[in-house]
Amino acid sequence: MPDLEQVLSEIAAEMASRPDRGEVATYIPQLGRVDPMRFGIAVSTADGRMLLAGDAEEPFSIQSVSKVFSLTLALGEVGDSLWKRVGREPSGNPFNSIVQLEHENGIPRNPFINAGAIVVSDVLLSGHQPRETIGEILRFLQFLTDDDTIFIDREVAASERATGFRNVALANYMRAFGNLLHAPDMVLGVYFHQCAIAMSCRQLALAGRFLAFDGRNPATGLSVISPGRARRIKALMLTCGHYDGSGDFAFRVGIPGKSGVGGGILAVVPGVASIAVWSPGLNENGNSRLGSIALEKLARAMDWSVFSG
Ligand code: DON
Repeated sequence: MPDLEQVLSEIAAEMASRPDRGEVATYIPQLGRVDPMRFGIAVSTADGRMLLAGDAEEPFSIQSVSKVFSLTLALGEVGDSLWKRVGREPSGNPFNSIVQLEHENGIPRNPFINAGAIVVSDVLLSGHQPRETIGEILRFLQFLTDDDTIFIDREVAASERATGFRNVALANYMRAFGNLLHAPDMVLGVYFHQCAIAMSCRQLALAGRFLAFDGRNPATGLSVISPGRARRIKALMLTCGHYDGSGDFAFRVGIPGKSGVGGGILAVVPGVASIAVWSPGLNENGNSRLGSIALEKLARAMDWSVFSG
């Protein structure tokens, strides 16, 4: 078996010098200010080791990676009844697309496209003020990592609030179909703030451990969710976690992953490792370009795939 530390440092060195870094997202102006030269990777292993390379300690905007954690909380609150309001199929469309909603009566294809995550935010808002729900999501991440320095970047949230016209359209459209129970403005307040949570690769790899290890935090042995639920969330990450690039990610990398337009990807090798990678430049599907390439190289070097055997 190759030495993981060595593999990570070789990948980080290669990624630092690659010129083909993709395009940093600018539709949320605050994200457009991030340095495209950044690259970080963190791997948390079953035996409790944490391996870091590159800018693995620098916080970045987790954006849509937050959808994995809000989904986990919503399933905890309403269980399988969530699936009456959100589907479980890849959309084959960009993450912010509105086209399928008209034909499918305001029911988003899956919880990871923006429309689906907005419904999940609506579910979490039930019986709470937006501030409480935002706090619940943030505290969940602080609990998973045992790290209360994780914070919400208010400038990113405000920047998205000021420019998030597509999300406003999605929320209003779903409200018209009766698939949002709260005022769109309140639901979007939750959604924009969860997307604006800032975490480092190290923190994100820690937060993903419960998915990699059968619903348990391997450091404490405590159960976060049931093994069956962890399995299903991973199935959704594999099929829908990279939007219309999900098939290609499964083909090239072969493990469940969830990307965000901040350039982060959380990926898990079941029973083996939780991995977070960050590079702000995106490919044509809005997924981290170098992050995807780094994961492909790592998975190949370590022979990590849910399809092997
Ligand atoms: O709603 C948005 O557009 C962003 N807050 C999140 C989108 C995102 O991260 C898509 N991921 N690749």
